[in-house]
Amino acid sequence: MRIINPKYFNLLNEKETFFMNKPFPHLVLDDFLEENFYEEITKKMSEKKYILKKGKSFNSEIESNKKISLNESLPEYISKITKVLNSNEWIEILKKLTGITSLKSTNVGNTLLANYHEMGTNGFLGSHVDHSTDPSNGLPHVLNIILYLSSDWKENFGGATLLYDKKGKKIVSKIKYKKNRAVVFLHTPYSFHGVERLKNNKSLKRKTLYVDYYSESMKPFENFDLDFPNKWFKHGTTFVLPKSTDYLKFKNWSYTKSLIKYKIEHLKSKL
Ligand SMILES: [Fe+2]
Repeated sequence: MRIINPKYFNLLNEKETFFMNKPFPHLVLDDFLEENFYEEITKKMSEKKYILKKGKSFNSEIESNKKISLNESLPEYISKITKVLNSNEWIEILKKLTGITSLKSTNVGNTLLANYHEMGTNGFLGSHVDHSTDPSNGLPHVLNIILYLSSDWKENFGGATLLYDKKGKKIVSKIKYKKNRAVVFLHTPYSFHGVERLKNNKSLKRKTLYVDYYSESMKPFENFDLDFPNKWFKHGTTFVLPKSTDYLKFKNWSYTKSLIKYKIEHLKSKL
């Protein structure tokens, strides 16, 4: 059975749109999975109420009601998708879309990184950039794909992917949550993103599949004309908190610490 919709087997024609989209290059791919496959997997997902049994949970102001599949074996039907998204064929398609010729998948899999995410009632994910390197070999993290997997989602439930300005403060673009929609975006030190607060979604979870890609070049964006510096630098997952006074709260210390480290690396990258 086909997994990815064949209309996305060639994304070269989308390259211009990808780079034109603001605040950083991204592309929305609706009906991403082949229809029959999507219906089959979502039916299976609804049979088991909670597919995440172990995983890792988050519940802070900045990461609220979120659970990820860290170190948990993924159900077969989810693994089928991650396998395709990490295949050479799909990576070749992404190379043409992004122009990153040294693009590659990671061997880390669903251990140090988590491919499957769920968000419950009132869930929220603040503005952040992800980890900057492959945990196994230090190569730069350059691209993400997020696939929306909850059917019956209503627009008033929220849950859009939010793309922020280069400082992570102002929302510039909002990619609504819609079943079987995929979002591909360039992951740079300035690609701040998050999830719009969920409301009224009751027991319906916002399910997403996430796969990231890396570059064999340590200067992955040097030929790109971007609205922000094209120099990659090393950083951890870094959140921008809503108010500056939030950094002074004791409970937010780990977020504050990451931001301080990020700022130092940012300054060093300018030297
Ligand atoms: Fe993220």
